[in-house]
Amino acid sequence: MRVNLPWKLTAVFGSAVVIGLLVGFVYLSFQLKTYLDSNLKASLRRELTLGRDLVESHLKDREGLADADGLADDMGKVLGLRVTIIARDGKVLGDSELNAERLRTVENHADRPEVLAALKQGFGESRRFSYTIKKYLLYAAIPFGGQNPAGILRFAIPLTEVDHFEGPFQKVLFFSLVLVLLLSLGVTFSLAVFVSRPLREMADIAQGMAKGDFSKKPSVVSKDEVGDLSRAITYMSDEIQSMITSLRHEGEKLDAVLSSMSEGVMVVNEQGEILLMNPSLRKTFFIDTHTEGRRPAEVIRNTAVLDILSRLHSGQSVVASEEIVLLTPEERMCQVNAVAMMRSGKFDGAVLVFHDISQIRRLEKVRQDFVANVSHELRTPVASIKGYAEALLDGAIDDRQNAREFIGIIHDNSDRLAGLINDLLDLAKIESGKMQMVLMPVALLPVVKRCLGILEKTSAKKMLNITVDITDSLPRVNADESRLVQVLLNLIDNAVKYTPQGGRVSVRAEPQERMIRVDIEDTGVGIPENDLPRIFERFYRVDKARSREFGGTGLGLSIVKHIIHAHGGEVFVSSVVGKGSIFSITIPTV
Ligand SMILES: Nc1ncnc2c1ncn2[C@@H]1O[C@H](COP(=O)(O)OP(=O)(O)O)[C@@H](O)[C@H]1O
Ligand SMILES: [Mg+2]
Repeated sequence: MRVNLPWKLTAVFGSAVVIGLLVGFVYLSFQLKTYLDSNLKASLRRELTLGRDLVESHLKDREGLADADGLADDMGKVLGLRVTIIARDGKVLGDSELNAERLRTVENHADRPEVLAALKQGFGESRRFSYTIKKYLLYAAIPFGGQNPAGILRFAIPLTEVDHFEGPFQKVLFFSLVLVLLLSLGVTFSLAVFVSRPLREMADIAQGMAKGDFSKKPSVVSKDEVGDLSRAITYMSDEIQSMITSLRHEGEKLDAVLSSMSEGVMVVNEQGEILLMNPSLRKTFFIDTHTEGRRPAEVIRNTAVLDILSRLHSGQSVVASEEIVLLTPEERMCQVNAVAMMRSGKFDGAVLVFHDISQIRRLEKVRQDFVANVSHELRTPVASIKGYAEALLDGAIDDRQNAREFIGIIHDNSDRLAGLINDLLDLAKIESGKMQMVLMPVALLPVVKRCLGILEKTSAKKMLNITVDITDSLPRVNADESRLVQVLLNLIDNAVKYTPQGGRVSVRAEPQERMIRVDIEDTGVGIPENDLPRIFERFYRVDKARSREFGGTGLGLSIVKHIIHAHGGEVFVSSVVGKGSIFSITIPTV
């Protein structure tokens, strides 16, 4: 149960006051009673002394105590007391409360304690119930008649009369104490409210801070402990706020770094649940749901990754570095580096970094293939040159007819070797970016005519129908002329090579926005659809044997692609097997 501070203080202080007042009340009442009592006794004693004188003078003047009852009545009337005159033997001689009849039947008083004490010590007193007059009485008695007392004079006063005195006193005392109690409770309560109000305010502010509200500041400025607390809270609030701000900035920085990274990053907590997953990783694994707090197995469908995680989690290893294969949407290689975070020897989470190494692997593969291809391409002509040269050395040189043919073959193969090496050097230059290109306005028609001139002999041999559809008014292109010749020569050469006897080859050019598009169409063998995407790769040939037969190296189209790209243009191809192909290039105009 919640009890507010003012009530608590008031209750504690109030109980202390009540206890104090009770003790005070009891003590004062006791003191008052004692005082009143002794006062009463003293006055009774004085009155008794006076009464004794009166009784003794009666004893002397008149004939003894014949009218003791009358005397008692007179004295009782004057003093307002019960007056009893008792003979020495205890016989009641007179009593102010009893008439003569009752007096005769009243019992002997010799055994009354006050009477006994009075005879023995000269004064006696007693408090008790009087069966004679049915009242609580305070009795006091002294002997009279000198050394050898003739009797005892006794006064009695009802105790209710004593209470009469005491009652009002006690009432006044009681009410003033209650007043003090109420006053002090009131003062305590208002004081407690006054003291606790700033505390209440600060408690509210602290609660607000816990909920993230730092807008309120305590208003207390006093130079005491409460003021100190208030200043401490203000300071704390400022500190926490600046700490939160800097934490937020840190978080934003981390966020920016993580989301701009090309590597995928995943962090899991000590339970193995995902704490963080950056956009790159979500893209890698095609995750579009929220991931925070979920188990990796729910969102990542890759056993290798889950395996690494479970090894880290179970403490089998602290670091892991592995290449994993992702199968969707296409096969990719990923290098995963994982580190477990340990706190006092226990797993406290892990960080996994995913690095896509498909490109690196692909490039490695391309390089290996390239070396293999080059060696293979070089080996064929070299072997044949070597073979025929050996045959000549072995004596064929003397056979004029054969010798001529052999030398012809050696010449052709060395040509082929030279062509291959030239193509390779070109390609190397183009790919390393060392090829110098001098761009200037070039008219297309003369270039095409030059190429056709170079190929005239071969095309005539195959009886091909070659048409050119390029107008003089066509805008000039921005190109390096000798490279442009190389491109067109390659494309027209291919068209001529891969078109059978009596086929048709046409070269057309038409302007497209800021470009000229050139189409080289043939009615040749065509290219299967599967091969189309790959024919621009180095050494890629649909039919190796046929290409080699024509002295092809498989490098022509890849050189074409590179040169056209270097000009800012595009190459594309469409082909139907058995019907023919159309190779198209675009080149920017001036
Ligand atoms: N016009 C074409 N018709 C049919 N196939 C072609 C044509 N042009 C190129 N090709 C195919 O593309 C391959 C690559 O061409 P290219 O790089 O010029 O090599 P090469 O001419 O040395 O064989 C050729 O081997 C051939 O299979
Ligand atoms: Mg070619």
